[in-house]
Amino acid sequence: MHDIDAYWQDGLPNIEGWVNERWLPHLKLIDQVQNDLGIAGHVAEIGVFHGKLLIALAHLAQPGGKVTAIDVFDDQLRNIDGAGVGSLEQLQANIQSYGPDHKVSYAFIKNDSTALTCAEKVDLVRNRGPFRLFSVDGCHTAEHTLSDLLTAQDCLAPGGVVLLDDVFQPHWPGVTEAVALFHGRCVPRIKPFLYCAHKMFFAGHGWHADFLRACTDRFGRQADAKMTEMFGHRVLSIFP
Ligand SMILES: C[S@@+](CC[C@H](N)C(=O)[O-])C[C@H]1O[C@@H](n2cnc3c(N)ncnc32)[C@H](O)[C@@H]1O
Repeated sequence: MHDIDAYWQDGLPNIEGWVNERWLPHLKLIDQVQNDLGIAGHVAEIGVFHGKLLIALAHLAQPGGKVTAIDVFDDQLRNIDGAGVGSLEQLQANIQSYGPDHKVSYAFIKNDSTALTCAEKVDLVRNRGPFRLFSVDGCHTAEHTLSDLLTAQDCLAPGGVVLLDDVFQPHWPGVTEAVALFHGRCVPRIKPFLYCAHKMFFAGHGWHADFLRACTDRFGRQADAKMTEMFGHRVLSIFP
């Protein structure tokens, strides 16, 4: 059994947080495409809470790989929309109980993600990246989400994938607004290829076709899958 399968079965139900069970095949397929294409890099998440998704990503990290958690943790005055109260203690306990057996190196960065300076972002990529899997799930305002999306884009390895939570989620409209701003006002170097259960997956322009083809081959014939165009890009949308 793949490490992540065991975690999904035995770890996921015991950790508080926001991970949709339907994402497992998507994560595994992205990991497989990256392995097949020889895409290397590490994993990171902004907005970690108790590590429910981060630990899943850690299971996909290579032995000796780096896993980086960025969260305000107990500095909750900086958590302005209250989307989950992060806890470093609980995160570390969950990693201890449910993290991968193979050795990965963890770093816990306590910071408001929008306050990361240029120099800190350079250090992040130099010391901990570049990243082949970067999840964005921190503060859900449009400003924070856009800033985090740009950080993820800047820190991504060639062929890396960004995962953005709560797109088209009516309770968190700021996230969708941020994706629209990202495509309308910035010069995006990543574009979405897959959407499922409010999670949007993005890859760099040069790799979009590879990920889209893999997703279409694997999931395209499901009754809940439809090829769509979102923000000007072809995206396989799985709904509901
Ligand atoms: C929705 S939760 C994350 C859920 C998590 N990804 C999971 O797998 O369950 C949002 C997290 O973002 C953190 N957060 C909120 N504002 C933040 C900010 N400005 N910078 C960094 N983290 C932030 C919160 O402390 C909380 O842990």
